[in-house]
Formats: sequence, structure tokens, C-alpha cells
Amino acid sequence: VKGFVTLVGAGPGDPDLLTVKAVGALAEADLVLYDALVDPAILGLAPRARRFFVGKRRGRHAMPQEAIHQWLVRAARAGERVVRLKAGDPFVFGRGGEEVLALEAAGVAHEVIPGISSAIAGPGAIGVPVTHRGVSSGFLVLSAVPDEGWRSVLPALSKAKLTVVVLMGLDRREVITSTLIGAGWSGEHPTAIVAGAHTARAFGWIGALHALAGVAVPADLPGLLVLGEVVRLGRANVVSLLDEAAIGIGGAA
Ligand SMILES: C[S@@+](CC[C@H](N)C(=O)[O-])C[C@H]1O[C@@H](n2cnc3c(N)ncnc32)[C@H](O)[C@@H]1O
Repeated sequence: VKGFVTLVGAGPGDPDLLTVKAVGALAEADLVLYDALVDPAILGLAPRARRFFVGKRRGRHAMPQEAIHQWLVRAARAGERVVRLKAGDPFVFGRGGEEVLALEAAGVAHEVIPGISSAIAGPGAIGVPVTHRGVSSGFLVLSAVPDEGWRSVLPALSKAKLTVVVLMGLDRREVITSTLIGAGWSGEHPTAIVAGAHTARAFGWIGALHALAGVAVPADLPGLLVLGEVVRLGRANVVSLLDEAAIGIGGAA
């Protein structure tokens, strides 16, 4: 048997949102190294595999990236079919690019199976399309960490007809809001929070930028921010738009 590594995108949560190809790779895997935010039900799709968590947990150190690379290479060289399972899409803030480079450098055969990214499916879960004819001509996906990244682009965008999706930013809401308002963004800029999208505990809020930091979001859910006129198209338009009404979506929010 020739060893092989498959980077697999697990999608935003719901196992039904895996690709058919991802399900096939899991079924055949000998070893699965998985990250945080991967639903346990998805691990059940790899019944033959030894499975190890190598992700980051709140307050605990993640396994060093270099150690993950070595593990992938070693297992593939030993002839194993390895699945490297990541939330969302492996190439959206998932360090998938670094792992591909390491596999290439080591001469290990590999493949990347894309996944549905929370950057698109998250807003979609509350009925917010990231683009909309006449409203938004594109979307920008940013990470809230490190600060230099979003700080160098976001304040300059206030008048652009763009949707901005900020990942890893729930606990940076205060500084993001004050920076944007300080840069001339309107406090009324349509804004949404989506957390735990496509899981049983999905949470959504639609409101105005100035109210963003004050929203009580369930602390243990991964979440993202959406900024832009498209937010007005969200499901909260059946409630009342920009009135800071928190809406529960899916499951018990
Ligand atoms: C390390 S990044 C990985 C992103 C992932 N590769 C993707 O394409 O969705 C983790 C961040 O993704 C976002 N995220 C992941 N799953 C989510 C979900 N179900 N609902 C909302 N945001 C989610 C959150 O912003 C979280 O902090």
C-alpha cells in the first residue's frame, strides 16, 4: 500500500454538509488527525481509523504545526492513508497551505478535498447572501487575529459596496467597532453575528455596528461577523431590521 495524505474540509458543522468525496476519504482512512470544531459524528465516518485531536482548545496549547507536518509525513511513509480533517475549507484560515508545502517538500503524495467554508455558509445560515446584485459586488474574508491584518484594510473600506466577513473576531468586537467608527464608518452600518452556524445550537443576531459589542453570544460557539448592506436581506427582516433584536436560528439558541 502506498501512503497518502488527504486534507479534508469538514464544512461548518452539520455532517450532512460534507462532500461525497470527503465521506469516501474518511471511510478508507487508517489515521485521522482532526482539528477543533469538527463534529464527533464526522469522526464516526472513519470507523477503521485511529483518530487524534491535534487542534487548539481554549486555554491549551495546540500541537506545534511542525509536529503535525512530521506526523503526516511519517504516517504516509509507513504506508498509511491519512486524513487531515479541518473545519470548513482547509485553505481558509486552516493552515492547509502550510501542510501542502510540507508534504510537497517531503515528496509525499497528497490531495486536498475542499469543504464548505463558514465564511460563506455562516452568513447564509441567517439568510444573508455574501453578494447580491446591486447591493454588494464582492466579499472580503478577514481574520480578526492578528490585529495588523484587518486594521490595515478594514477602515479604508467604509464606502465600498463590499461585504466583509470577519472570522475569529467574536472577542475582538469592541476594538473592531471602535476602530471602524473612529475611521468614519456609520454606527448604523448593518452588522450581523452568526455563531455555531449549521449546528444544532446556531445563533444569529442582526443589528447596527454600534450595538455589536454589547450582544450576548453563547461563549462556547465559534462565530463570525458580517458587515455590509447584504445583512439587510437576512432572516431578521421578518423580525425587524436594525433594531438590535437577537434572533435564534435553528435549535435552541
Ligand atoms: C481557524 S478558523 C477556520 C475556518 C474554516 N477553515 C472555514 O473555512 O470555515 C475558525 C473560525 O471559523 C469560524 N467558524 C467556523 N465554524 C463556524 C460556524 N459553524 N459558525 C460560525 N463561524 C464558524 C469562526 O470565526 C472561527 O473562529
